[in-house]
Amino acid sequence: MEQRHAGKVAIITGAASGIGQAHAVRLASEGAAVVIADVQSGEETLHRIEAAGGSAMTFRCDVADPDSVAQLGAGVEAAFGRCDILVNNAGLIPSQPFERISFADWRRIIAVNLDGVFLTTQRFVPGMRERSWGRIVNMASNTFGQKTIGLSHYVASKGGVIGFTRALSGEVGQHGITVNAIAPAMTRTPGTEALQDNYADMTQDELYKFVVGKQSIPRPSVPADLAATLSFLVSEDAAFITGQTIYADGGVVRG
Ligand SMILES: NC(=O)c1ccc[n+]([C@@H]2O[C@H](COP(=O)([O-])OP(=O)(O)OC[C@H]3O[C@@H](n4cnc5c(N)ncnc54)[C@H](O)[C@@H]3O)[C@@H](O)[C@H]2O)c1
Repeated sequence: MEQRHAGKVAIITGAASGIGQAHAVRLASEGAAVVIADVQSGEETLHRIEAAGGSAMTFRCDVADPDSVAQLGAGVEAAFGRCDILVNNAGLIPSQPFERISFADWRRIIAVNLDGVFLTTQRFVPGMRERSWGRIVNMASNTFGQKTIGLSHYVASKGGVIGFTRALSGEVGQHGITVNAIAPAMTRTPGTEALQDNYADMTQDELYKFVVGKQSIPRPSVPADLAATLSFLVSEDAAFITGQTIYADGGVVRG
């Protein structure tokens, strides 16, 4: 792979699993030193990166907890001195009909999926500003642009992520920092297992066929599709793109 991220330090939250793992493996394969920041052990991602000759470290972090994010900041600065690329990928994908969502459920989804983005971004923007270079990519969802069932708290959190992406891009662009979001289609990962509950009349395979049927490109979304989009957005080639939400979803939502 071309080493287009050589010399860059990239923090990827939620990189122990699913799409975040694919993001971490891809950026490391292109030369970035990757921090796998997750509430779970990131050992599997670390092994995959190291086996391919890349550089990474794991860091236990709960993005919804300000103290934990402060520890991540101190830990990354001690290890690498800086963060050039921040990928806000950690997220919970719940499945609950609206009337069964408790206020605690609502708060938890907003805390991880939206507060977490605020906390990590606020921690790392000052260093990017000092160095006049930074890339922030937030994981949104194409659920924001279509009919959904059982996801009102989730879609609200992702709408917040899209709004935050637009607003922050206006404040930090003058400092060489771009802020964009990626909105995927349903992509099979450990995080999507619970979605089945909303479609009890379908098997998992039927559910994925239903999703693919809405796409213009008729094949399932895979994490590598999203990692490829990420790699472009954090590269020099994307230096003039900011405030955007890229619907990398096979053509379901035309944003
Ligand atoms: N898979 C999809 O279909 C899909 C579609 C659209 C958007 N997304 C978004 O992509 C991102 C990744 O989703 P995924 O499907 O890979 O899910 P996943 O559940 O496989 O991975 C999410 C990771 O986030 C971590 N995490 C959860 N809470 C955390 C916290 N408080 N602090 C730190 N880490 C935490 C988990 O431990 C896990 O490793 C999410 O933001 C999700 O909303 C996924």
